[in-house]
Amino acid sequence: MEFKSISCAFESLDLNMLKDAVKTKYNDATPLCYLHSYGCQQNVSDGEKLKGLIAKSGFSFTSDDALADLIVINTCAVRENAHERVFGRLGELKHLKEKNKDLIICVCGCMAQQKHVAEKIKESYPHVSLVFGTFAYSDFYKMLYEVIVSGRRVFNIEEKQSEIAEDVFQVRSSDFKAYVSIMYGCNNFCTYCIVPYVRGRERSRTVDAVVDEVKGLVRDGYKEITLLGQNVNSYAYGFPELLRRLNDIEGDFWIRFMSSHPKDATNELIDAIIDCDKVCSHLHLPVQSGNDEILQRMNRRYTVDKYLETVEYARKRCGDFSFSTDIIVGFPGESYEQFCDTKALLEKVKFDNVYSFVYSKREGTKAAELEDKVSVKQKGLWLRELLLMQHEITEKWLGRFVGKTLKVLAESAKKQDGLLTGHSYENIIVEFEGDKKLIGSFVNVKITNALNWALFGEIIR
Ligand code: 5AD
Ligand code: SF4
Repeated sequence: MEFKSISCAFESLDLNMLKDAVKTKYNDATPLCYLHSYGCQQNVSDGEKLKGLIAKSGFSFTSDDALADLIVINTCAVRENAHERVFGRLGELKHLKEKNKDLIICVCGCMAQQKHVAEKIKESYPHVSLVFGTFAYSDFYKMLYEVIVSGRRVFNIEEKQSEIAEDVFQVRSSDFKAYVSIMYGCNNFCTYCIVPYVRGRERSRTVDAVVDEVKGLVRDGYKEITLLGQNVNSYAYGFPELLRRLNDIEGDFWIRFMSSHPKDATNELIDAIIDCDKVCSHLHLPVQSGNDEILQRMNRRYTVDKYLETVEYARKRCGDFSFSTDIIVGFPGESYEQFCDTKALLEKVKFDNVYSFVYSKREGTKAAELEDKVSVKQKGLWLRELLLMQHEITEKWLGRFVGKTLKVLAESAKKQDGLLTGHSYENIIVEFEGDKKLIGSFVNVKITNALNWALFGEIIR
């Protein structure tokens, strides 16, 4: 099956040609696009960039898929459940296409990059007109033009590493929190992970490009900038140095980042986080397992002791330092005793937040070939055990903030009780009473209570 199907006739497409084609198709009315991104922040950020391209093509946006002329499903491939949700969603969209023959349905992102997924959509989901992977953003105008003008289905999952596009217009979903990608791809090949296969090798943006983008965002009033990359501390031009450069930008704003690999988490990185007042005092450091043999079979290239040294160094410099992590429960061949080593690690480190997942077999990865004897049901029970234990740890450990005053970015008002909610400098969820007008600004909150997932407090004026 051929998956590179953009006709040569459209190779040198001018954006005005596309805009004219859109105007003609929709009789000069402004068509609407509904876009949904599944998965991690990197994917959400890709969705914001894609929205920029779609806006430039002449579309506006709607949050109601029933009103849309263009539906874009930006997919995630990391675990099987995200995969199944997408196919479920595509099944539902069939009805919208039956009602509106002109509707264009597009599937893109990590899942679409996989050949077996593109094949399945080609054969079993004929109502999907456009499928493209993570390497094809630069072809977006051409692909959309071809779908609109020729009415043909377009599939583009060719793996071509191109230059990183700079100065791209993005339609951001918040006007006070922004994502900034600093690098793309991953070279690590952890044996369970599909990411290196669907996002290609590491490519870093230059320091100047990142600094310029952050300066522009701060000028536009953004309060929180989250730097993104599959593994930010293998950023080619030095990640701790980048943090220091960004910290020098004038303004009242915070810097966060996601994700870091423990093998590259150096003391210089911890020093930069602690020394730079705008860099939030928190490190998300996915450990995955607390057992050295499992870590080795995951190809993680660090030991439990090396991980603990990093934690110890940070806590020596700043006793309250906040860590969060990712855990995979039930890696192929993992015994209950090895799983218990992970529980012991959680007891030792005291994370403020743990994101834990049952291992999900990803076709094409090394771990998919390993023997896996423990049932999914059993793994689910282990996961429950781990979560219950972590709830107790979090509740006790969050208690360190009771009586203290934390700086918090007010982010939203809860529907149920109207309480404002946001994250503190240490990345802890904080809830408090306050006026909705405060959303998007920093407030000081005196902490009165700690639960197993959040802090509660009162605004101090
Ligand atoms: N199964 C379960 N969890 C996974 N992750 C990545 N790949 C898999 C998989 N095959 C988790 C890891 C990673 C997080 C983003 O997703 O914990 O840190
Ligand atoms: Fe996947 Fe490992 Fe790369 Fe993270 S560092 S994206 S877990 S291969």
